[in-house]
Amino acid sequence: MTNNTSDWVARSLKSVWHPCTQMQHHETVPLIPVSHGRGAWLYDHDGRRYLDAISSWWVNLFGHANPRINAALRDQLDMLEHAMLAGFTHEPVIRLSERLSALTGGVLGHAFYASDGASAVEIALKMSFHAWRNAGRGEKQEFVCLQGSYHGETIGALAVTDVALFKDAYGPLLRATQTVMSPDARQARDGETAQDVARRAAADVQRLFEAKADKIAAIIIEPLVQCAAGMAMHDPLYLQLVRELCDKHAVHLIFDEIAVGCGRTGTFFACEQAGIWPDFVTLSKGISGGYLPLSLVLTRDEIYQAFYSADITRGFLHSHSYTGNPLACRAALATLDIFEEDGVLEANRGRAGKLAAAMAPLADHPRASNMRQRGMILAFDAVGVDKAFSRRFFANATRNELLLRPIGATVYLMPPYILDDEEIAGLAARTQAVFEQTLAEA
Ligand SMILES: Cc1ncc(COP(=O)(O)O)c(C=O)c1O
Repeated sequence: MTNNTSDWVARSLKSVWHPCTQMQHHETVPLIPVSHGRGAWLYDHDGRRYLDAISSWWVNLFGHANPRINAALRDQLDMLEHAMLAGFTHEPVIRLSERLSALTGGVLGHAFYASDGASAVEIALKMSFHAWRNAGRGEKQEFVCLQGSYHGETIGALAVTDVALFKDAYGPLLRATQTVMSPDARQARDGETAQDVARRAAADVQRLFEAKADKIAAIIIEPLVQCAAGMAMHDPLYLQLVRELCDKHAVHLIFDEIAVGCGRTGTFFACEQAGIWPDFVTLSKGISGGYLPLSLVLTRDEIYQAFYSADITRGFLHSHSYTGNPLACRAALATLDIFEEDGVLEANRGRAGKLAAAMAPLADHPRASNMRQRGMILAFDAVGVDKAFSRRFFANATRNELLLRPIGATVYLMPPYILDDEEIAGLAARTQAVFEQTLAEA
């Protein structure tokens, strides 16, 4: 048996069903079997390399095969690979919970664990409803989400997702949800600022809360950047205004920081830029450095206390087999160590500035609009392109040593926090070349 790319592709297509993929597209779009990863690069079996400019679906923070995370995991492997978390506890999960609580200044004092992001969203929704029920407000059963929101693919998370492509087929299975205006700053009318759009969007929430807050358990928001909507960015003012409305109308505020947390937007938690805390934060993706499936929900102590009782049915009986997996928690601890020891947030400010400067020529491109950036996320929208733009761009990118997957017409960069100057320059130059090439093919 040979060990080359075409062999692995054939075997994969015969046996593996890939996520978020119409498998027939692989008749024309390449499938890339990864042999190994080092730093920001992925390598295939033929020795070709790809700069992982989207951090492998937004999870990788400090590169592939990071020596410090690897060492922590090796050490943990010899100690404890896994133990159930009901009735037992262990050092990695305790230390991680303590450190995350400290990062919120103790405001969100308890952490509940799961594996994937969608599971954390399910937990936050269930906790919100059940906390109200325990408080004698069982009629608060509805959830509010934003236009263009994305919170995952499980039935509950999909119900608060507003992406027709992912949701429509499953409509009959999903609970009805209230959808409010997105604060996406691209909707600014003539003379309007991003803050004006934020105010308009908050007014939409206000109207809904005034009409029926007594039926609403929670509103769920991706703070600062609605990533899957196409890196739709908004002003932090929106988060402050919604916090005020939630306080006034007794509605829980859930911030889904699965994509935007862990330093992605410039602060460890995106909501720090608004100077407010929600009642729940969901985290996943980058928290394990992109190594292992780990997700969690941080809650305020009032929420925790709403479940604390002699009555078992008032407890939060949700569980997953791998809840609080020690290896995943240890990877997360190593990730937090790197943040602290390397002054990552500060260093990223420099990196983000260099990325912006290198991509600046595209701001004046007649076929590129809405160049925008928040921390280590940079995006622009291709103008006048067809539906196959994203797939063609991806294929051209791979031929130019880049892993980039536009969302519709939105081209975005979301690289690991380790790119050096040469990699930043190369990424920007190649992105622009691939853009030109893809436009020229249409
Ligand atoms: C904001 C947000 N929430 C939830 C999820 C779902 O996470 P997972 O894919 O790990 O289930 C994602 C995934 O992209 C996300 O971006």
